Amino acid sequence: MASAILAIDQGTTSTRAIVFDVSLNPLATVQQEFPQIYPASGWVEHDPEDIWTSVVATSQAVLKQAGLVAKDIAAIGITNQRETVLIWDRATGRPIHNAIVWQDRRTDDVCTVLRDAGHEATISARTGLLLDPYFSATKIAWLLDRVDGARAAAQAGRLAFGTVDTFLIWRLTGGRVHATDATNAARTLLFDIRKGQWDAELAELFRVPLSLLPEVRDCTGDFGTTDVFGCTIAIRGVAGDQQAATVGQGCFKSGMMKSTYGTGCFALLNTGAKPVTSRNRLLTTIAYQIDGQRSYALEGAIFVAGAAVQWLRDGLKLIASSADTDALAARHDPDEQLYLVPAFVGLGAPYWDAQARGAIFGLTRNSGAADVARAVLESVGYQTRDLVEAMRADWPSAAGTVLRVDGGMSASDAAMQFIADIMDAPVDRPKVMETTALGAAYLAGFAAGLCPDLDGFAATWQCERRFEPQMDAATRERKWLGWRDAVSRTLTRD
Ligand code: G3P
Repeated sequence: MASAILAIDQGTTSTRAIVFDVSLNPLATVQQEFPQIYPASGWVEHDPEDIWTSVVATSQAVLKQAGLVAKDIAAIGITNQRETVLIWDRATGRPIHNAIVWQDRRTDDVCTVLRDAGHEATISARTGLLLDPYFSATKIAWLLDRVDGARAAAQAGRLAFGTVDTFLIWRLTGGRVHATDATNAARTLLFDIRKGQWDAELAELFRVPLSLLPEVRDCTGDFGTTDVFGCTIAIRGVAGDQQAATVGQGCFKSGMMKSTYGTGCFALLNTGAKPVTSRNRLLTTIAYQIDGQRSYALEGAIFVAGAAVQWLRDGLKLIASSADTDALAARHDPDEQLYLVPAFVGLGAPYWDAQARGAIFGLTRNSGAADVARAVLESVGYQTRDLVEAMRADWPSAAGTVLRVDGGMSASDAAMQFIADIMDAPVDRPKVMETTALGAAYLAGFAAGLCPDLDGFAATWQCERRFEPQMDAATRERKWLGWRDAVSRTLTRD
């Protein structure tokens, strides 16, 4: 009898496949990085075939590593980088262009025009999002306008749009299923998060034909079956990666909050069955949808967290591997007051300034590699405090909530300690740090009738380490004011 669950976590810089047993213990993990394509300043693309081959290769390899075969897999869960846009030909399955990645800023001018025309309030009220190139809609229109013949083919119903989950479901099911889940749909600027359906007026405003769009299902919906791995396996769990991490962290009660440190950093605060409108430039999003019931979250999205560590490694070549960051940063001179504002692709919440670019402030003749590494780690803490302060202002009952952290960078003790210090609040790191994949596996396992209900699953969450604040109040205040000043000097608009 099939006794394992395969979670596919298709992220921004790598794909991970993880096999869990039905008690949700991880059995094996395989990860593969794939190329990032930077065709112009501020543009980021992925080759869809790189995404697809990495998913197939990691899935096959993880089964082998766990000593399993395809028929041991009871269900597949998919979680993915969100907002990234793919369009393909329904007849051939061939993408018409590279995927345009969520970080890509090429449609900033379109967003400015729509904002200046006064559309942002309506868009926010319906989608919970803001007018920023981060989200999918303007990227879809860009592809339809710039790829030869694409708009005509779309009008004729020959093309399909999808975020990465949808593309993978299409490929895995051999083109039989064109579907997404509510959490991914909620990131497109085309989905009414209160009604739970595509919004025809927004589709018209963004010039996206409705015929391109996938069907929207529960996170625990039936997404068809795949024969790609040698026998028929059901795809039963789908959620955007930040929402999957929220599930994996067991944040099912309103007021619970998690923050994931991957390429970027995304903090989600569960606000329960009613969407909360932010007054502090946060996003309102769907946390998960099960049996047609939606739970909502306030989300703070920042674009660069782990990506700044990658920059230390690949750009500045100050470290050989990301894991070396803590050791290098530990050698910093406490008298150096360096601030890195990592606006490499603009700034997300709560600033939303697509034109801002990164800067380092406070350099002296004595500043060295260790001080820059420390500034990178601290930038993650400052940005987290930006988000958590905005959340607490929007939702005062979140004041006492302990932040649950996960993602690759949460392995950095120094970064997690600094978050606790600068927030003056404890931070909890769970035993299972693969919470994104765990969330996807749980959704699939629950849908397949193998896993307990939400409360039963939440009760299995275990803390590996709590980071308590240790910084004195005067230092915290001085450093925080320094960050505020540094950010204000990088912003290009009020
Ligand atoms: O919204 C973008 C987010 O889903 C990307 O997550 O983990 O690939 O950085 P990650």
